[in-house]
Amino acid sequence: MTQASAPGKIILFGEHAVVYDRPAIAVPLPSIRTTVEVDALPAKDQAGILVQSSALDVSFLLHDVSRDDPLGLAIHLAFEALQVTYPPNMRITIHSDIPISAGLGSGAAVTVAIVRALCRHFARRMSDEEISEIAYEVERLHHGTPSGVDNTVIAYEQPVYFCRGKPAERFSIRRPFTIVMAHSGESTPTAEVVGKVRDGWKANQSSYEQTFDAIGRIVDLAYTALRRGDLALLGPLMDQNQMYLDALGVSSASLDNLIHVARESGARGAKLSGGGQGGYVIALVEVDSAGDVVEALQAAGASQVLKTRIE
Ligand code: MEV
Repeated sequence: MTQASAPGKIILFGEHAVVYDRPAIAVPLPSIRTTVEVDALPAKDQAGILVQSSALDVSFLLHDVSRDDPLGLAIHLAFEALQVTYPPNMRITIHSDIPISAGLGSGAAVTVAIVRALCRHFARRMSDEEISEIAYEVERLHHGTPSGVDNTVIAYEQPVYFCRGKPAERFSIRRPFTIVMAHSGESTPTAEVVGKVRDGWKANQSSYEQTFDAIGRIVDLAYTALRRGDLALLGPLMDQNQMYLDALGVSSASLDNLIHVARESGARGAKLSGGGQGGYVIALVEVDSAGDVVEALQAAGASQVLKTRIE
């Protein structure tokens, strides 16, 4: 048996504007992961590649799904990149702790873990860049115009400053900090929210472009602050980023409420993270006040509250 894994991710700054060529900053979540196991099956027993996952609620033979299926496409692209024309019988099992449709990059993590596990199975190497490109192709099935930030941060498993069409900049966080993440209990597929922003942009390009520019400036200030360890700037920058995400129409009443509760209970700043219209809020907290913020968010009805160290 061979296995490999990939982390979840959060976008700290710049979601949505990143689809329009502005920068974004994303970090991996090493403790929330997808793991893929590959087991060789005897040639006589099984007619092909069996794919199983209780987390994703799937069990199928590869030759029964088309390339429109994200898991099917991920496996086909991996075989093609590895030049495996006649793959031997095998079982691919996917385990995942990453919640689906929550803005944590579950789709990209599944692809990256599948490709890495198949590389190990065939004792071959692929660069992070190649793996990221495969994950990007699969992301395109999930939501037609992905920026590429999710597959990049998950394949590199390092903080990235990402701008579409340019090489991603990997960087180190100078001073670690603590984030509380709270799920609003609702979720909207990223593709749907990205589509709504696209409709708004078509109807009012100049105002949307100004908002994207403003978000891009916040991302650049945050990038400098993260590399210098200037944590005092991060909270206010998160609040400003949230104001512009709200202007794009990607927040929701329950996300707004969780953000308000986080700030009132001591967070230094808070914003939604990922596609929005549900999913996670992230709040920057001091270690001392983290417990109060967690309790307040739980009392406010968040469906899941996690505390994580970003380093
Ligand atoms: C989704 O994690 C982030 C968005 O910016 C979409 C994308 O970058 O493709 C909303």
